[in-house]
This record gives sequence, C-alpha cells and structure tokens, in this order.
Amino acid sequence: MTQFSETELTAAVVRSFDDTPHPRAKFLLQELVKSLHEYVRKTDLTFEEWEYAIDFLTRTGQKCTPIRQEFILLSDVMGVSMLVDAVNHREREGATETTVLGPFYVGEHREMPHGADISPHNQTGEKMFVRSRVTDTHGKPLAGVPVDVWHADDDGFYDSQKPSYATHGPSSRARFVTDADGRFFFRTILPCSYPIPTDGPVGEMIMQTRRHPMRPAHVHFLVAAPGYEPLITHVFIGGDKYLDSDVVFGVKDELVASVEKRTDPAMPDGQPAAAPWHLVTYEFHMKPGAGVAPKPMASKGEDEATEAA
Ligand code: BEZ
Ligand code: FE
Repeated sequence: MTQFSETELTAAVVRSFDDTPHPRAKFLLQELVKSLHEYVRKTDLTFEEWEYAIDFLTRTGQKCTPIRQEFILLSDVMGVSMLVDAVNHREREGATETTVLGPFYVGEHREMPHGADISPHNQTGEKMFVRSRVTDTHGKPLAGVPVDVWHADDDGFYDSQKPSYATHGPSSRARFVTDADGRFFFRTILPCSYPIPTDGPVGEMIMQTRRHPMRPAHVHFLVAAPGYEPLITHVFIGGDKYLDSDVVFGVKDELVASVEKRTDPAMPDGQPAAAPWHLVTYEFHMKPGAGVAPKPMASKGEDEATEAA
C-alpha cells in the first residue's frame, strides 16, 4: 500500500491514465489532472467552494439548449476561447487577425447581391455602407470567395434572438461572394455595443464579480477561400467605449476600423442616401493553408428563435 500524500495522489491519478490508447487524449487528461490538482492545492479549496463550483457547472449545463451554449459563454468570458484561438493562429505574417466565432453564427448564410441592404426591416438604425476586399497576404485579389457577415442590430440583439426571426427570417446577416477583383460591398445599419446573455450562471458570475457584460460594436466575418485557412474574425467599430474592456477579450487593434460619418447624398455605389450615413472600409488578407470552416456553435438556429432577453 502506498503512503497517502497530496502529491502521491496526483501522481496516482496521472498514472491511472497511462494505458489510454490515444496519445493525445492521454496527454490532455494527464495535464488536466496536474493543473486541477495544483489549483486545489494552491487555493486550499474548501468543501463549500468545491460544492459551489459543482453547482455552478451543473447550472451551466442545465442552461444549455440546442441554440444556447452556456459552456462556450463561460469559456468566452474566462478568456479560454481567445486563448485557444491564439495558440492555433500563432503565425499570421501579413494575414488578418482572428477572433472568436461567437454563438450567433447560424450556419451558411443566404447569398445576396453586392450592394444589398441586409437590414431592410430596420427602421431605427443609422445606415452604414461596408466596402471590402479579400486578397492573399501579397495583395493578390481572391475572386469567387464566399464571405458570411452577421451583426447585432441597433437594439443590441441578433436576428436569431428575436421573435421576429420566424416572420422576417435572417436580418443583418448574409453571404456575399467576391467579384473578379476580390471586392464585395453591402449596406446595413450601424451596430451598437451589446451585453452577452446575462440570464444564466455566466451572467450571474459577471454581475457578482462587478465585471460588465458588454461587447464593443462589431460585425462578424467568416471568409472561406479554397486553398486558404478559413478566417473567422470581427471588424470593430472605432470609437466604441468598450473596445478596451470587451467581456470576451476579443479585440485586437488591427481589427478596429475607423468609421467615417458621411453626409454625401449618394453612397459609393451611386445609390442615394436619405440621411447621414457611415462608411466602413476593410480588407481581409488570407493565409495560405487548408482547413474546414467551423460548424455553427448552435446545432439548430435557422428555424428557431430565442426570446429576446
Ligand atoms: C458575439 O460576438 O456574438 C459573442 C461572442 C462571445 C460571446 C457572446 C457573444
Ligand atoms: Fe457578436
């Protein structure tokens, strides 16, 4: 029999995984045990704290539905999602920076013609024109590339969070395919900063620890060019007050676009502008490589809407 000690316990649990057939699974599990045990030792975790953690994780799981992933939200607010993204995108060399996918990507979007208004039902938002281009890291334009775009409205909610999704369908979300010069452009409304969902255990933690739940205003892009790594990123609206304190730590300086307020009577495609509007110009530079575009975080979403909180 082995004499019990805290460190011998850790070693015994690590050894218990020695025969795991898959080497990577064995490595991940053994490292996880070491890190968890180190945390318990370092903090002198009490029974009450351990029970609280178990209850918190239980409630996190119970909050999950096919269209609500509270565990990913937990990963996001703890910075784990951004860290996983970072360690998997260490060498960018002239390629556009990546950031989190977020929970509101609902799968391949409906293709729309260049210049389309992707928020046609929105009556309150200020108009925004987005012109963009997709190139490789040397500036060579990439033609025929699908680009999925999605963003929150001026009320801070995504279409899929609103009951109107059932009647209006997708809004502030579309797919564009780049032209021969790698370009695409569309009109929409200026998104605003918004809170992550706060009606679950993750939101409870954010509020109880006096953090704020806000994300700075942004537009999501998923660019999937054959022969290049899929690019999952956001373009942030310059000047947003939450750029330095994004609740999910997703901001990188080079993803912040300066947004010009314009009063010209026509937008860049010559179509009339009824009121002052905003112009965003942003280029995406693709890194050569392979890889598959991610699946949506929610396994459903095209035909289900959550209640706006
Ligand atoms: C988002 O940008 O849509 C998002 C990302 C992480 C957590 C919540 C929302
Ligand atoms: Fe978002």
